[in-house]
Amino acid sequence: MNRVLFSSKEEVWATPQTFFDELNEEFQFTLDPCALAENAKCSFYFTPAEDGLAQDWHGHNVFVNPPYGRKIAAWVEKCYHESRKKNTKVVMLIPARTDTA
Ligand SMILES: C[S@@+](CC[C@H](N)C(=O)[O-])C[C@H]1O[C@@H](n2cnc3c(N)ncnc32)[C@H](O)[C@@H]1O
Repeated sequence: MNRVLFSSKEEVWATPQTFFDELNEEFQFTLDPCALAENAKCSFYFTPAEDGLAQDWHGHNVFVNPPYGRKIAAWVEKCYHESRKKNTKVVMLIPARTDTA
């Protein structure tokens, strides 16, 4: 397991570009709702100041690598609701800690 998932760096850990590029070939993402200007994966993105959780993602192909702290549950719920909207696709990266309850 990558140590970064258990450290404070998890908040701003950037998706490796080559990994994103492969997914992007398949999904052609148009929105990164959890980003900073320096790590955004799409030209249209939301920062903590705009709060991606409070925005409408309708009509977008959305790439979500959320901040991995306790707030991750709110991001999973948001992804679920947004993915049910028409013409909206959401791909989310989340840690799998299969050794814990
Ligand atoms: C794990 S990083 C992912 C960065 C980038 N999207 C990527 O995939 O490389 C999570 C990002 O979400 C941002 N973030 C945290 N809370 C947010 C919020 N409420 N709305 C938008 N962005 C947020 C953090 O500043 C951080 O840059």
